[in-house]
Amino acid sequence: MNASAQQQQKQAVAADALKYIESGMILGVGTGSTVNCLIELLPKVNLKGAVASSKVTEDKLKALGIEVMDLNFTGELDLYIDGADEVNEHLQLVKGGGGALTREKIVAAASKQFICMVDESKWVQQLGVGFPLPIEVLPQARSYVARELVQLGGEPVYREGFVTDYGNLILDVYGLDIGLDIEKVAAFEAKLNNIVGVVCNGLFTAQRADILLMATADGVKKLT
Ligand code: 5RP
Repeated sequence: MNASAQQQQKQAVAADALKYIESGMILGVGTGSTVNCLIELLPKVNLKGAVASSKVTEDKLKALGIEVMDLNFTGELDLYIDGADEVNEHLQLVKGGGGALTREKIVAAASKQFICMVDESKWVQQLGVGFPLPIEVLPQARSYVARELVQLGGEPVYREGFVTDYGNLILDVYGLDIGLDIEKVAAFEAKLNNIVGVVCNGLFTAQRADILLMATADGVKKLT
């Protein structure tokens, strides 16, 4: 798929996602180029406010006059909408290409429903093969965590020059055998979280999508 076809799919899936947003809602808003297509459409909906999953998203929402709220004061959100770097048939995800994985996982966890919007290039059989798995680490633990990831068969690459919204670093990990089985992938997420110094990893299994909207050449498909 060329870049222009992919952009058209991002716009199509964002337009479809708009249908799920109700007037008066406080919406959890993800991060990335697909979400940016949705943000442009949000002035059409009469939101009470939004919780942003990154500083970048926060700035875009504010620029449109949408009130950005603190998750500590909103209570549980009805809906979170975000993109993904990869999705498998169990609607488990790899996220964090934009480095916002921790804040994204928090907002997803604090929401009743997570709708994930992707173009069809994101659909994969096995997570972590085509796209490296992002892992947010505390700065002091970067080398230690990298050595632990090598023990697990991965090839961690330090995302140089990038600092997360929380002041941490990202390791993009190639070559991990995350597995295909739904339980195995979930166990892998927990194993990574158990490495001291890991803040969060980009596998979304407990926080997998409730609904996947996937743009294809034949229109937007809905998977649950
Ligand atoms: C950011 C993310 C994004 O959802 C993911 O990178 C997909 O982005 P895009 O819509 O630009 O392809 O996880 O941390």
